[in-house]
Amino acid sequence: MAHHARAKAHTNIALSKYWGKRDNDLILPMNGSLSLTLDAFHTTTEVRFVEERGADTVVLNDQPLDASAAAKVSRFLDRVRELKGVDWRAEVRSYNEVPTGAGLASSASAFAALAAAASQALGLKLSERELSILARKGSGSASRSIFGGFALWQAGHDDQSSYAYPLQSPLHDDIAMLVVVINAAHKPVSSREGMRRTVETSPYYPAWVDDAEQRLGEMKQAVVEGDFTRMGELAEMSAMRMHASMLAAEPPFCYWESGSLQAMQTVRELRAQGHQCYFTMDAGPNVKIITRTSELAVLKRALAATVGEQALLTARPGPGIVVENC
Ligand code: PMV
Repeated sequence: MAHHARAKAHTNIALSKYWGKRDNDLILPMNGSLSLTLDAFHTTTEVRFVEERGADTVVLNDQPLDASAAAKVSRFLDRVRELKGVDWRAEVRSYNEVPTGAGLASSASAFAALAAAASQALGLKLSERELSILARKGSGSASRSIFGGFALWQAGHDDQSSYAYPLQSPLHDDIAMLVVVINAAHKPVSSREGMRRTVETSPYYPAWVDDAEQRLGEMKQAVVEGDFTRMGELAEMSAMRMHASMLAAEPPFCYWESGSLQAMQTVRELRAQGHQCYFTMDAGPNVKIITRTSELAVLKRALAATVGEQALLTARPGPGIVVENC
């Protein structure tokens, strides 16, 4: 019998950020988050289990994965094997159309696709909620990439209560994201290390957690009611407050580069001229601009002048996970 399946997942960008873990092993977050899944960046992963013991093989974009990343994939596969009660080795082949490590949350689509392909290959019939819980244990943000459009990952209090679910929104058909690639190189501080350091050392961190949970409720309301302006204001605030918590860590760290600041300033100027646009940033220097489809042309023109046209990527809401047997 073939134990072979393929899944395609799209990445997501958080509008209300997740920053900090309560449980590093299960990846339980300190606070809930809300994201938009994008159509432009995705990962397709094939998993084949072979009914024998042995080392897993993991290939990303036709290259063997480095040892520490491959070990992380194997540890994740152990969780899936455990659910089925088997110890079979796996062959994993993945294609990533997200610039890896550039703060575009490639781990979100990667672990969502891996969770779906591996569980399908073993014939586990997981619900979307169960898939979200499983994907979360690979990378927190992956819990949200099971779903298309807007998704809310509730922090929960244990393994079974920490999962994402989709949100319907009148904003869905009109929202767009413009990604400004400032630097596509691998980020110097991983989100895992950055979160750990912030939680353990930043005196601003408790304030972040308090505020994030409260603002998440407001963000959910803005998204569900279709209040673009409030959604944008809250998204920008969430990003600024998350980065503020890192600036206060010991030793401090900062993902922003001069180009990031320039892009943020352009967004503020365009907004002052009446354009509907807000920025957000993750664990990397790239700036993501939340806007309306009708504003894209103006934004692109303004930003192309400073960063160049080739540094701009356009995205619209993307679909949820697709999985099939091979
Ligand atoms: O789950 P990770 O390790 O990809 O961390 C994601 C952290 C942020 O992108 C900064 C915020 C978020 O909610 O996606």
